[in-house]
Amino acid sequence: MVEYISHDRIYISYKGDYRMDFKTELKKYQKIVEDELAKYIRKNQCLEARLNESMEYSLMAGGKRLRPILVISTYQLFKNDIEKCMPYAVAVEMIHNFSLIHDDLPGIDNDDFRHGKLTNHKMFNEATAILAGDGLLNNAYMVISENLSKTNSEELQTKIKVFNEFSNAVDRLIAGEYVDTEFEGKQISEQDLEYIHKNKTSALLRLCVRMGAMLANASDNEVEKLTTYAEKIGLAFQIKDDILSEEGDEKILGKPVGNDKELGKCTYVSKYGLEGAKNILDKITKEAIETLEPYGEKAEFLKEMALYIQNRNK
Ligand code: IPE
Ligand code: IPE
Ligand code: MG
Ligand code: MG
Repeated sequence: MVEYISHDRIYISYKGDYRMDFKTELKKYQKIVEDELAKYIRKNQCLEARLNESMEYSLMAGGKRLRPILVISTYQLFKNDIEKCMPYAVAVEMIHNFSLIHDDLPGIDNDDFRHGKLTNHKMFNEATAILAGDGLLNNAYMVISENLSKTNSEELQTKIKVFNEFSNAVDRLIAGEYVDTEFEGKQISEQDLEYIHKNKTSALLRLCVRMGAMLANASDNEVEKLTTYAEKIGLAFQIKDDILSEEGDEKILGKPVGNDKELGKCTYVSKYGLEGAKNILDKITKEAIETLEPYGEKAEFLKEMALYIQNRNK
């Protein structure tokens, strides 16, 4: 039931209070992202058609699209012409899917299911999955470099800075994935565990928020304030992933439960216990929301996003 629309958002009545319907907003954003991603799928008949199919298989498999949505919704704190940030939103989702394909490979997490479907190497084969990941990684850079090549000199400096942050975040993701595998079956300090999570997961989420703000020409001060929010939801995101790997519902998650334990992964659950991990998650979610106070109603979606990350079941 739509009650009123403001800032292009739909509000519904909730216990006498008007609240944004986060799920409706999320779906709206997901559709925007999926429509945009679809434009980048290659359909031509060529010798590598099966490789293109495997890239499409993972890219369009039904992820939550939280990273591109963070780019867009942060951009909207400052500006409304979202088409300007879309190539960056698309590129980050390509990087994310590259990381998932490689993360599931036998040499890394060896998982058979993702998004309720066979993982890329199970559906195709290992060689194809490795190359599909490589392809998505490079396609992300192709999307950005094409955008850069069409950018006027006035906006170029900002975009080059964004590009630099983009490549650095991908570097951190890869480093985090490496350290994650290195520590399998070993004891880990609190500090090193935080290092893994900050790099393998939080770095990309942090990038999304920073890119959204930077592309909208937010001041350095605004970018830094939002970075605090981003770092907190980034860490929260992986802690929740650890919790879901322990007690999630496989049918809803679409990926295996119990695999972290099986592989002896160092997680917030293995380190602090289920309750301990949940307490840390609750604390940093609250802190993330507090950092958005100065933005008022405009940041309502980002606040709800923090709560969604904390409470999600997939
Ligand atoms: C899964 O990320 C991998 C992690 C970094 C924990 P998502 O939960 O965002 O993946 P989608 O929604 O399936 O794409
Ligand atoms: C998440 O790895 C980080 C990346 C994929 C870069 P995980 O192994 O913890 O995530 P899931 O649980 O497989 O999605
Ligand atoms: Mg992994
Ligand atoms: Mg994994």
